[in-house]
Amino acid sequence: MAAPAPKMTAPNRPLNWLITGSSAGFGIALTRHALVNGHTVIATSRNPSRTPDLVREVESHPDGRGRWVKLDVDDPDCGSVIHDLEKEGVEIDVLVNNAGWSVHGPVEGLTEEEVRAQMETLYFGPVRLIRAAVPYMRRRRTGIVVCNSTGAALEARESMGAYGAAKAALDGE
Ligand SMILES: NC(=O)c1ccc[n+]([C@@H]2O[C@H](COP(=O)([O-])OP(=O)(O)OC[C@H]3O[C@@H](n4cnc5c(N)ncnc54)[C@H](OP(=O)(O)O)[C@@H]3O)[C@@H](O)[C@H]2O)c1
Repeated sequence: MAAPAPKMTAPNRPLNWLITGSSAGFGIALTRHALVNGHTVIATSRNPSRTPDLVREVESHPDGRGRWVKLDVDDPDCGSVIHDLEKEGVEIDVLVNNAGWSVHGPVEGLTEEEVRAQMETLYFGPVRLIRAAVPYMRRRRTGIVVCNSTGAALEARESMGAYGAAKAALDGE
């Protein structure tokens, strides 16, 4: 008989969040929300030097609960950011796959390169981070992965076929 699946638990303490795409939109809103609610946040973006005010805002948060790290989810080695943090003793409790962008156009007009670039950021990148983070979470029996999806993954939208397909691929994981 198969052993019962180990139970995951929800710790009753502030959590360590790692959020991708913190330099704009939902990413910075969620970063601020988590910080205001007492959590620790590793905010990330491809090029932190492009948003110095945001980096300063997060890193100067009282109690040192905010930190900004360079992370491009298209980088095949992006999971090393998580391994390095864990080695340092930062246990990632919540991984938020938020980074994203959309290519627009009729599906037959998109090049294979454009579609692959879309899949890279919206599917392969998040999967790389999940592959890096989840083994630590399983070992600790606690952890949450949040992936920002879209209605376009459920119902095709004109001009957003590749975007919807890439999001649906991740939803299917
Ligand atoms: N806005 C909407 O109506 C809507 C609706 C449904 C779902 N969503 C989803 O919600 C998420 C956030 O959307 P948003 O509207 O807040 O987007 P946004 O304002 O355009 O911000 C996108 C963020 O993703 C980052 N990013 C893009 N490519 C990246 C990569 N390769 N590696 C790391 N970071 C990358 C950008 O950072 P840098 O360019 O600075 O690196 C930026 O911080 C996306 O996944 C999007 O698909 C949005």
